[in-house]
Amino acid sequence: MITQIGPTHSPGDRRQTVARAVDLLRAGEVVALPTETVYGLAADALSGEAVVKIFETKKRPHFNPLIVHLPELAWLEKVAVIDEKKRPLIERLIAKFWPGPLTIILPRREIVPPIVTAGLETVAVRISANPLFAEVVRAFGQPLAAPSANRFGRISPTAAGHAMEELSGRIPFIVDGGATEHGIESTVIAVREGGIEVLRAGPIAKEELSEFAEVSMRPSGRTEAPGQLPSHYRPQTPLTISDEVSKIAVPKGKRYGALLWSDAPFSETFVESRRLSTTGNLREAATNLFRQLRELDRAGLDCIVAEALPEEGLGVAIMDRLRRAAHAAEIR
Ligand code: TXA
Ligand code: MG
Repeated sequence: MITQIGPTHSPGDRRQTVARAVDLLRAGEVVALPTETVYGLAADALSGEAVVKIFETKKRPHFNPLIVHLPELAWLEKVAVIDEKKRPLIERLIAKFWPGPLTIILPRREIVPPIVTAGLETVAVRISANPLFAEVVRAFGQPLAAPSANRFGRISPTAAGHAMEELSGRIPFIVDGGATEHGIESTVIAVREGGIEVLRAGPIAKEELSEFAEVSMRPSGRTEAPGQLPSHYRPQTPLTISDEVSKIAVPKGKRYGALLWSDAPFSETFVESRRLSTTGNLREAATNLFRQLRELDRAGLDCIVAEALPEEGLGVAIMDRLRRAAHAAEIR
């Protein structure tokens, strides 16, 4: 299969690309689409047969539950059940964060095929704020299931070219929406009796959610579902996290690269360096994270040294991704 990239620069290209994506989805195919977080690998969420192709394409060794992306709010209660006691909080969260990078776990309705939720009685839902994604899912007229458009365990794609690197020859079409806005996957939450539990840290930080209810972070290691596997976002190159990058001693003959956060100068210790943000901006750092990891991973290094970030705001989500990348490197 030859994978095509659909351009969207001119209005004409955009129209054609959206129409082709919708045609393929209607035919039960999988299509890579940009969201505001990372590129997603989308298929008709209400068709078990189409969703199976997502798992085959990603080579996920087992069926992990997928996020269901809704065309509009009216779809929410067609796929999920809202507990009346929790409704006020859920509605306030939705009013504030949708469309956007917040995924909410809710009890599912029968209409959602079990393969989408990996047999769980809950379903993950969100509405994407990316205008191209929104156009495609609305024209399609039904929810789309979409995990990140990478092969299982690897770095999530934040540009059409990355999706191509991951899935070339395995999918018919990639909609090119340029670089994604947030660069890391959505925040995943469950609404509990006592408040909000964050199952996966993401662009919407704990501090922002705290304005609505008590927030607890699920301790890493205690997974409710896969995708919160300790090893994930796997670069080919071993990765280690350091508080003091300037003190790293590189063994003779080895090539090390650095993924820096602070304004420490680039040093000759490292044959390749990237800086997540030039202004200490965590939002910018999140946007650059997966692209720079990919670049370092391609540089033929023996080790990537990632500088630790402050664990506040978006720093929590970024450190979460770095730890999983480091863990993956260790256990290989
Ligand atoms: O930003 C994102 O969330 C991207 C874009 C494409 O929307 N999608 C994404 O999907 O990251 P994926 O499949 O890579 O991650 C989905 C996450 C996993 O951590 C999974 O375990 C969790 O959502 N999840 C899905 N359904 C769940 C459920 N019913 N209960 C608990 N966790 C669930
Ligand atoms: Mg993923």
